[in-house]
Amino acid sequence: MLEALVKRFKPLPENSTLLILGGGFSGQCIGALARALGAKVICTRRDINQPGADFVFNSENQTLPPQEALVEITHLLSCIPPTSSGKDPVLSCLQNQLQELPLKWAGYISTTGVYGDRQGEWVTELDTPKPQQERSKRRLACEQDWEASGLPVQILRLPGIYGPGRSAIEIVQAGKTKMVHKPNQIFSRIHVEDIAGATMHLIQLAAKGKRPRVINIADDRPSSNTEVLTYAASLTGNSLPPIEPFEVASQSMSPMALSFWQENRRVSNQMLCKELGYCLLHPDYKSGLLDCFLQNK
Ligand SMILES: NC(=O)c1ccc[n+]([C@@H]2O[C@H](COP(=O)([O-])OP(=O)(O)OC[C@H]3O[C@@H](n4cnc5c(N)ncnc54)[C@H](OP(=O)(O)O)[C@@H]3O)[C@@H](O)[C@H]2O)c1
Repeated sequence: MLEALVKRFKPLPENSTLLILGGGFSGQCIGALARALGAKVICTRRDINQPGADFVFNSENQTLPPQEALVEITHLLSCIPPTSSGKDPVLSCLQNQLQELPLKWAGYISTTGVYGDRQGEWVTELDTPKPQQERSKRRLACEQDWEASGLPVQILRLPGIYGPGRSAIEIVQAGKTKMVHKPNQIFSRIHVEDIAGATMHLIQLAAKGKRPRVINIADDRPSSNTEVLTYAASLTGNSLPPIEPFEVASQSMSPMALSFWQENRRVSNQMLCKELGYCLLHPDYKSGLLDCFLQNK
């Protein structure tokens, strides 16, 4: 479906070079779209043998890309999460070098976890973040460091990311699904191709002088986990276990899984889709999962 996005955008200006720090699941997809639009893309991973790695960047052992790799970068995207001590890996290792670049745009991928629990209410970029989880507090601190960096940065806040090879399709196919019911609990999500599409849309708007500080990138339809798994199973033909109440299921959940169920919010995409005019490729989980299912075939 990346072709559908390629048709929507004008090529990036000649001589555009996008540096993707942390070319994992989202970074790879964004890089593929930028390349298809004619940009030179340079991608870092922690191991040169990983797919898409042009250079190694690993803040944990201070392996930095060579100086000559970081010249003439016009666009920059960090997809790297905070360290366990709350530092931003990119700023703590590369900030001085980045400040020397002829940057037109810098994106920092963050999470909607910074909003904390909203008891199922909608959250917009105008709401003050109230992170509850320690990792979300670290994330907000990194957002603030990026904003203070003096780089032309835009913060992209994402909910649960899914896409081909990493979605409810694989979960139901693995046969390890849990159908957990917690009344009124919903989750927001975004298909990885819409992260790529929205990023490109934002880069092109920034070139016209429109660069809001923070943007949520989420689909139109926050939904319960059981709804999403039921639809995935209807595509794959897998059977699902009976529904378990949250009180029971939570007893065997990992602390990480439990932390996701402690927060409930609907992430608004009004700024991205209404004010800034981005048209979602996958407005809801049905469109997105069908795409994942068909791409896996
Ligand atoms: N997964 C979700 O549902 C979700 C939701 C909201 C926001 N986010 C955030 O969105 C961003 C992109 O998510 P994703 O799922 O695409 O992530 P991903 O596939 O895990 O990619 C993260 C990238 O960061 C790199 N990295 C991690 N620690 C590093 C360090 N200390 N030094 C250098 N590189 C480091 C990884 O290196 P390798 O390539 O070597 O692994 C990888 O390329 C992440 O910040 C993530 O926390 C994720």
